[in-house]
Amino acid sequence: MERIVHVPLEGREYDVVIGPGLLQEVGARIAPFLNRPRVAVLTDENVAALHLESLRSGLAKAGIEMVSLALPAGESTKAWPQFSRAVEWLLEQKVERNDVVVAFGGGVIGDLAGFAASVLRRGVRFIQIPTSLLAQVDSSVGGKTGINAPQGKNLIGAFHQPTLVLADSEILGTLTARDFLAGYGEVVKYGLLGDAAFFAWLEEMGPKLAEGDMAARVEAVAHSVQMKADIVERDETEQGDRALLNLGHTFCHALEAATGYSDRLLHGEGVAIGCALAFELSSRLGLCSQEDPSRVRAHLKEMGMKTDLCDIEGALPNADALLGLMGQDKKVVDGQLKFILARGIGEAFVTADVPKEVVLSVLKDALKDCAQA
Ligand code: GLY
Repeated sequence: MERIVHVPLEGREYDVVIGPGLLQEVGARIAPFLNRPRVAVLTDENVAALHLESLRSGLAKAGIEMVSLALPAGESTKAWPQFSRAVEWLLEQKVERNDVVVAFGGGVIGDLAGFAASVLRRGVRFIQIPTSLLAQVDSSVGGKTGINAPQGKNLIGAFHQPTLVLADSEILGTLTARDFLAGYGEVVKYGLLGDAAFFAWLEEMGPKLAEGDMAARVEAVAHSVQMKADIVERDETEQGDRALLNLGHTFCHALEAATGYSDRLLHGEGVAIGCALAFELSSRLGLCSQEDPSRVRAHLKEMGMKTDLCDIEGALPNADALLGLMGQDKKVVDGQLKFILARGIGEAFVTADVPKEVVLSVLKDALKDCAQA
C-alpha cells in the first residue's frame, strides 16, 4: 500500500513516503541520512503523549538514540518565544552541522522546526514526520518554514526543504474528526485547483476516507502530495504557479485574523470556506458556471465540514473589515491583492485583477445569509 512521491528539486531532492506503519520502522528509514545514531526531535505535548514512545522504540530498533522537546500544542507556539526556546534547546543538545532535526507533529511543529533547522548553525538538515492530515498533504512538503508575527501569519521564515518526509497513514487514526476534516479541506483544495477528476473521486470516496478506509487515505494523501510536488518543482519560491496552492487562502487568512487565530476556526476549515467563497467570486465574475460553487459547497456539506461563514461560531466583523484584513495578506504586491480564481473545478489561476466591489458583494451576501440562518 506504500507510496513514494519524489520531489525532484536539483540538489535538494527528497522522497515523501506515505503508508501505514512507518513509525514502527522509522529507524531503518532514517538511518541512511544520519552521520551518527542520534536525532533531536521537536514535537508538541499532544503528539508526544500519543506517539512519542512509538517514535522512540521505532528509532531504537535501528540503534538510534533520541532527545526530544515537546512544545505546547497550538498555533500560539508558532512565534518567537517558543522558536528561540527550540533553537537554544537544539544548541544545548549539541546538535551539530551534520546532524538531523526531526519535526514530529502537525503544521505548527513542522513549520517551526523547519525554520529552526534552517537557521541553526546556518542550516542543518531536517526530517518531517507529519502527524496531521493537513501537514501530510501540505505543510510538510515544499520547504516553506516559519513562524507568525504580530503583523500576520507566516511572515517570518525561510525556504528550507526537508531531507525526507515520512507520512504514516495509521497516525491519522488518532486525529479528532474535526482535525481530520480540517486537513481534508486542503485535500479538496488540490482537486479544486488543478484536477477535476480527483475532485470527482473525492466526491465519491470522501465519506470512506473520513470513516478510516486506509487505502483511500493513502491514495488521497499521495495524490495531493504528487500535485504539490509538481507545483513546487515548477516554482519552488512562489514566483508564479505555487500561489495556486493558496486557493481559498486569501479569504481564509482574513477569517483566521477575524477569529483571533483561535479554536473558533482551524486553518483547514478556513481553507474550505475560503475555497467555497473563491468559487462564488469566480462565478460572479463570470469565470465559471453558477453550478461550480454549489457543487463545492455540496461536497463540503456532505462531509460535515464548515462551509459557510455562519458555520463559524460567534460574531464576525462586517464585510469592509474583512476586506481590510485581506489587505494584510502576504500575497499583496504593490498594494494589489492577489486572488486565486477558477474557470471551473480543477482550473484555478492567479490574478490581481479583481474589482474590490465584487469581493465586497460576495462577503456581504455571505454575511447576510448568516443573519438569515
Ligand atoms: N501551503 C502553500 C505552499 O506550500 O505553497
